[in-house]
Amino acid sequence: MRTIDWVDGAVEIIDQTALPDELRMLRLATVAEVVEAIQSLSVRGAPALGVAGAFGVALAARLHHAEPDRLAQAVREIETARPTAVNLARGARRAAGKLPQGPTAVLAEACAIRDEEIAASEAMAARGADLMLELCGDRPRLLTHCNTGGLATVTIGTALGVVGELHRRSALAGVIASETRPLLQGARLTSWELARWGVEFRVAVDSAGPFLMARGEVDAVILGADRICANGDVVNKIGTYAHALGARRSGLPFVVVAPESTVDHDTPGGAAVDIEDRGAAEVSATFAAANPAFDVTPHDLVTAVVTERRVIRLDRGEKV
Ligand code: MRU
Repeated sequence: MRTIDWVDGAVEIIDQTALPDELRMLRLATVAEVVEAIQSLSVRGAPALGVAGAFGVALAARLHHAEPDRLAQAVREIETARPTAVNLARGARRAAGKLPQGPTAVLAEACAIRDEEIAASEAMAARGADLMLELCGDRPRLLTHCNTGGLATVTIGTALGVVGELHRRSALAGVIASETRPLLQGARLTSWELARWGVEFRVAVDSAGPFLMARGEVDAVILGADRICANGDVVNKIGTYAHALGARRSGLPFVVVAPESTVDHDTPGGAAVDIEDRGAAEVSATFAAANPAFDVTPHDLVTAVVTERRVIRLDRGEKV
């Protein structure tokens, strides 16, 4: 199943805000609908955002090809709909690069981005599973955070694709899905995907992660990224840094799985990244709140980054 695709002249997505209660498709037929779907997290996860951005520009090209100013404005709105995952602006800009050749060329580029993410998922799953077995020995117990499955990509996923591949190899002893406050991507979405795949798992509150590691219930942490900086810093869902600290304290591998489309050589380190703050309403109906949607895990806490092309052993001094 593709969780995002181009269908009959519009973008079709699974509405991730409705899961796990309801599997509902959304058809996005205007630029405003694409931007709204991105901002409300109906479509989310870095690679899926890249595909959404590209399809959004394809839609804009179709609807507004005779109005250059409106088209340029639409591209700007799409690429800035959320600031942190590099894939969104990158996907939108790559598709926009074909605008001089017309709407058909833009759509072809967007479909190429979709297909590349599908292929990247498959390659990461195999490469990542091999690495986890090398790092942990047979049948590891893994902790993951946020949602990095098909919902966050197009088909299989990044870190969760590795989890699925280990399950298929009968080489997985357990999964802890960190719930991922405040929007519960782990408790709602990762759990939904793992249940569909028949993988046994437990949901844990985010703050339990480091303690479960200290108590010996986890063999490694595996998760995704929204941006991997030139120095190896990993920007990912808020709560990632705490899991990395817990893993370091317990001497556990901390593995990041992300496609090359998430590696950003133009951003020197995590301090340079615009971290989205989603405002108080998601956290408290009454009080002021700090609500950063992402955090930065310094590169020295990362064991390895797995992409579709390489395993980068940051713990051995290898460079992104
Ligand atoms: O706010 P979200 O749900 O878009 O954040 C998503 C994440 O942080 C994921 O871990 C990341 O994009 C990797 S998805 C393969």
